[in-house]
Amino acid sequence: AWTTASIIDETVDAIRAQVGDGRAICGLSGGVDSAVAAALVQRAIGDRLTCVFVDHGLLRAGEREQVEKDFVAATGAKLHTVDAERRFLDALAGVSDPEQKRKIIGREFIRVFEVATADVLAEETVDFLVQGTLYPDVVESGGGSGTATIKSHHNVGGLPDDVEFTLVEPLRALFKDEVRTVGAELGLPEVIVRRQPFPGPGLGIRIIGEVTADRLETLRAADAIAREELTASGLDGEIWQCPVVLLADVRSVGVQGDGRTYGHPIVLRPVSSEDAMTADWTRLPYDVLERISTRVTNEVAEVNRVVLDVTSKPPGTIEWE
Ligand code: XMP
Repeated sequence: AWTTASIIDETVDAIRAQVGDGRAICGLSGGVDSAVAAALVQRAIGDRLTCVFVDHGLLRAGEREQVEKDFVAATGAKLHTVDAERRFLDALAGVSDPEQKRKIIGREFIRVFEVATADVLAEETVDFLVQGTLYPDVVESGGGSGTATIKSHHNVGGLPDDVEFTLVEPLRALFKDEVRTVGAELGLPEVIVRRQPFPGPGLGIRIIGEVTADRLETLRAADAIAREELTASGLDGEIWQCPVVLLADVRSVGVQGDGRTYGHPIVLRPVSSEDAMTADWTRLPYDVLERISTRVTNEVAEVNRVVLDVTSKPPGTIEWE
């Protein structure tokens, strides 16, 4: 029978067979797939795996700590964190267009990852790159597997030529829910194993307008409160994901105590979905909405209004950008 333990044993054996006494590198995103893939490879080859985590400054509250502390404590994995917030913010300065933001974030991410890889390669020879490809991705892409190239054309130094890696994809036979079960069995923290989908460009595409450090801080605080209250209400299982969006270029008048405020609205975008292709807005109980609204407007100084998005997909997308 396909027990979780037997899936883990067979996968670990397969990784050992593939990697032999070689070395591997794995980029962590903070999400469940890369974390479980890395945990399996760590179990198979131990310290011959190096994990690389790029903090682009667009993560939600606590996510870096979940990787640096909780993931490392649970797996014992060797982790190399790159602090790249300044670099991403500089690259995003003055940019409001969503596709432009995505392009810049994607480009910077690859460059930073390549620099980090060059650092690792300066100390050891690495032949394998771990990726958290799932079964549905394998089917969609026609089943091919193979290699990935890290390019040396950005003057990163340390990379003599383009470096080709053989891919290790330990999740190729698994669906998302199986990945979560395997992750739990491997002892990964609940916050990582249960994490709802979060886009690669992170909070960068949840600030409508230019991305700045102050705006990120505001959105991070509001998002943390919304997530805390949704989890406390026991509704995580019904919600596919709940983007919290900062309308940074919009201000509205409010009143607090004796004073007039002129702050920003945030939008709650709770959706229910099977696969993110279509989605319906989640009918959250009014008392949960009230708690989020009261706390956000009390605790986050720049936010004086909380609004609810009641649009299905289509016609609305899940994200606002
Ligand atoms: P939309 O907004 O298109 O989102 O309805 C569908 C799903 O994809 C996620 N999403 C992204 N994920 N990079 C990602 O890795 C992106 O640029 C991106 N844009 C949207 C979104 O969170 C939802 O789960």
